[in-house]
Amino acid sequence: MNLVDAAYDRAGASDFPMSCERPVGQLLAALAAGVRPGGNILELGTGAGVGVAWLVSGLGERTDVTVTSIELDPERAAVAAKETWPSYVDLRVADALTFLATAAGAFDLIFADAQGGKSEGLDLTIAALRPRGILVVDDMRTVEDWPEEFKVRQDGVRRTLVEHPHLVSVELDHGSGMVLSTHR
Ligand SMILES: C[S@@+](CC[C@H](N)C(=O)[O-])C[C@H]1O[C@@H](n2cnc3c(N)ncnc32)[C@H](O)[C@@H]1O
Repeated sequence: MNLVDAAYDRAGASDFPMSCERPVGQLLAALAAGVRPGGNILELGTGAGVGVAWLVSGLGERTDVTVTSIELDPERAAVAAKETWPSYVDLRVADALTFLATAAGAFDLIFADAQGGKSEGLDLTIAALRPRGILVVDDMRTVEDWPEEFKVRQDGVRRTLVEHPHLVSVELDHGSGMVLSTHR
């Protein structure tokens, strides 16, 4: 079984419902394939490892990049760690905000998929991009029956990205709704 299908199976078996949707993963794979040799990819929020699996699938046979993924919850991190990942994959149990505090300018591609680094500390995530680095967020389509607080948080993320002076952003009606931003 390929890494992506195995990751969705792992998520299902551990009752983890928050993995990225397939269209989001396909975009991650396409963007990972374009990361420069020697480049670095970061995911905030590993979950069951679905996002990592898509990133690795996009890299194919390449081994000239790093993929780092940060997960706060050790039990979830342990689920993702059941896979045998390529050696360039580094799964860390940490708070994304702590990690980001020392990551300025380090990453070519970031998938910000955790509360830490997305709805809190988004400025640190933006600062972790290299010039011309790409930031991806999903779950940007409003769900009508969400609590008002969620909607406000989501709109805050969207506005920050779309209006940020260092970013060129596009809102995509793709998967769960995405914003893709390139650091100038
Ligand atoms: C939407 S899920 C991630 C799904 C994963 N990116 C994927 O595509 O399969 C969000 C994850 O972020 C984790 N998380 C929440 N706050 C965090 C933080 N401050 N630092 C790191 N991980 C965090 C949660 O435990 C959860 O597993």
